[in-house]
Parts: sequence; C-alpha cells; structure tokens
Amino acid sequence: MTMTVHEAVARRRTADRTVLLEASDVTMRFGGLTAVNNVSLKVHYGEIVGLIGPNGAGKTTFFNCLTGLYKPTSGRVALEGEKLPPKPRQVVAAGVARTFQNIRLFHNMTALENVMVGMYCRTKANAVDAILRLPRHRAEERAATKAARKWLAFVGLTPAADVLSRNLPYGDQRRLEIARALATSPKLLLLDEPTAGMNPNETRQAEELIFRIRDLGLAILVIEHDMRFIFNLCDTVSCLVQGEVLVCGTGAEVQSDPRVIEAYLGSPQLEDEDDA
Ligand SMILES: Nc1ncnc2c1ncn2[C@@H]1O[C@H](COP(=O)(O)OP(=O)(O)O)[C@@H](O)[C@H]1O
Ligand SMILES: [Mg+2]
Repeated sequence: MTMTVHEAVARRRTADRTVLLEASDVTMRFGGLTAVNNVSLKVHYGEIVGLIGPNGAGKTTFFNCLTGLYKPTSGRVALEGEKLPPKPRQVVAAGVARTFQNIRLFHNMTALENVMVGMYCRTKANAVDAILRLPRHRAEERAATKAARKWLAFVGLTPAADVLSRNLPYGDQRRLEIARALATSPKLLLLDEPTAGMNPNETRQAEELIFRIRDLGLAILVIEHDMRFIFNLCDTVSCLVQGEVLVCGTGAEVQSDPRVIEAYLGSPQLEDEDDA
C-alpha cells in the first residue's frame, strides 16, 4: 500500500520541532583525507531526514561518527542535549540504532534469533546467556522472544522466523536488519542505503515500512541514492559533497538546487530518475 502525496504532506506538518539529534561541526580525518568536514545536522522528533550525495561523499563515515564506530576528529554529537559517547553499545543504549550499507546479520542464526540479539541491550541477560538458554534467564528469554516476534511481524517477516538469515532473500535480510535495530527500542533509526539492490516493488514496501516506523514515534535519518524515494519520504534533505554539506532544505528546495544537480551530473541514479 503506498501513501498519497497528500497523506505524506499531512504527516510532515505534524512533525514535532524539538531537536532529537544534533551534530555540530563534525569532522573526520583519515590521515591526510578529510572524509567529513565540519558537518552540522539536526534531526527533530518524528522527522524523516535524508542524506544524499555522490559515492565517497562521506555519508557512511558521518553515520559512523554518529554511532560511535568512529570518534570524530572534532565536533560534537548530542542526543536530547546529552553528548553521545563514542562507543557503539552506549550509543545504542542511549537510543540510536542503525542498519548498514552492507547488511550485517548473524548468518548462522535464525531471523528470530537475530532480532533477539537486538533485544538484549535492554534486558539484564546477555546474548550468550540467552543463546545457551541458561535457566536463570528463561523468563527474560520468553519476554524477549515475544517482543522479537512482534518486530518480525511489524516488518512482515513472521513466516521467516525460523529461517537462517543467510537463506533469506536479499530484501528480507534488509527488513530483518531493520527489525533487529527496532528491537533495541531506539528513538532514532539510521538507515544506510536501505533500498540498495531492491526492485521497485521492494522499494515501495521499504518506503511504506519507514513511514510506519515514523508513526511509532521514531525519527529517521536515511542515506539513499534513489532520489524519488528520498524526496517522497523526507521532511528535510542534506546533500553532502566531498565531506561538506552543500545544501540543506526541504525536498523541493534541494531537488531544484543547481549545485545539487551539478554534483550529480553524470550520475546514473539521477539519469534514471529523469528517464522515468
Ligand atoms: N576507515 C577508513 N579509512 C580511510 N579512509 C576511509 C575510511 N572510511 C572511509 N574512508 C574514505 O572516506 C571517504 C568517504 O567514504 P564514505 O563515507 O564511505 O562515503 P559514502 O558513504 O558517501 O559513499 C572515501 O574517500 C573513503 O575512501
Ligand atoms: Mg556509504
């Protein structure tokens, strides 16, 4: 089921304007290469923010700075006004979850077990205890299983609960990664190219899923190359080029900005969109 433009606009208007995540002047250098250069970006509660830019622009590196995988060379990242620690586990505990450009699942675990791994940052038991099914953790495990099944249902993967994740079709693996991220009870979900490699039908489903996630009250920051997807979905969009924010604005503003068009000139993604 796809949403009409009207519904999408109505949802955008109701977005709460309080700042959830604020990145201020984030810079990340690797030796002599400045991958992210003084990037500032805000995500408000209930908002869907897009991050676009050519390959190598620094989008994934910026995500890594937000999620504690990298400690930025300089700059500050705050969630609800509190500085985020540069440790992935603590960032997840603070309420920021993500998916990866290259899917990262536990390939020899079932879909359900993958989602349960996400639950354990919120329970006292650790994942090893749970997977070994130690008796003292059985009650918690039952609760976690129930919640994990709920997230699988939410992303439409109930029939795949007992399938090893490596045997799932590609689009299902992407949805499973989202379910695992949701199981950590985030306030903000970061998606790195969630529709890469998907067919148009799967892309539409992903779009619908992202709107449903927002309707749960989460904010979303999404990297994507599919322009139609981004501009349909996002309240605001930032375009990153060579590590710097080139333009930030509404979808309409960014889409029509000559600097953005120039940055993408010759890019097959945009040519595809023009042809469609
Ligand atoms: N760990 C790293 N070490 C050195 N260079 C890196 C590292 N990660 C990314 N880069 C470089 O930073 C730049 C931005 O990469 P990336 O953030 O992956 O771009 P994007 O996601 O926008 O395609 C690229 O030039 C890339 O080669
Ligand atoms: Mg990337």
